Amino acid sequence: MALRSRAQSFAGGTLARGMARVNARHPWSHNDHFHPWILRNLPDRRRAALDIGCGEGALVASLAPHFTTVVGNDVDPGMLAATRARCSALPNVTVTGEAWAGLPGPFDLVTMVAVLHHLDVPAALTHVASSLAPGGRFLAVGIAPPRSARDHAWDAASILTNPVIGFVKHPRADRSGPRPTPYPVVEPTLALDDLRRHVEDVMPGARVRHRLAFRHTVAWTRPA
Ligand SMILES: C[S@@+](CC[C@H](N)C(=O)[O-])C[C@H]1O[C@@H](n2cnc3c(N)ncnc32)[C@H](O)[C@@H]1O
Repeated sequence: MALRSRAQSFAGGTLARGMARVNARHPWSHNDHFHPWILRNLPDRRRAALDIGCGEGALVASLAPHFTTVVGNDVDPGMLAATRARCSALPNVTVTGEAWAGLPGPFDLVTMVAVLHHLDVPAALTHVASSLAPGGRFLAVGIAPPRSARDHAWDAASILTNPVIGFVKHPRADRSGPRPTPYPVVEPTLALDDLRRHVEDVMPGARVRHRLAFRHTVAWTRPA
């Protein structure tokens, strides 16, 4: 049983309820948490960027000052509307619901935050690799079910640090209660070790790392 589920059922669920209360009062986005990592790792050439599965568009807006053009892409009409509203004053941003694999590139940056597990992973990685310009970069933040001892150790660290990070990011308690996730979600099924193999097949030399916040990151630069 995954440590996350064990923690949820520990002491008849009391621990899980306590943690959920703390998390609701000191909320933080485990996805947005990685935007600074993305912004610190931008490629040198910054003409075109594509954020696949852009959700409400926070990353698209953050990338806009750094690139000549930024495309935000999502399949969900509500997310597209939210990104359009957020980026309406950013003339270099285009928001589209077209199939991203058909978008005209090449791109200097392709990002996916909590999106890869929605997609056919080998096909998506292959499309990303071919849509990058030489020297272009793929930066992804992902979610995987814990399977190996190492995955469980990272899960334990994420469980312990989750409330601490919440207190630091959101010190004033929010008493309005848990909010529903704003975007469509699906449960991840591909373990990180399996993802690593797919990534290595298509993007040799890519860096795949476990992270806190129940996430991992993938970084790859297409050879020039
Ligand atoms: C978990 S949400 C993450 C949203 C956003 N990246 C964030 O970090 O807040 C996953 C997003 O991927 C989008 N998505 C799912 N399948 C997609 C596809 N085939 N093409 C583009 N977007 C997709 C969903 O509509 C959803 O907005």
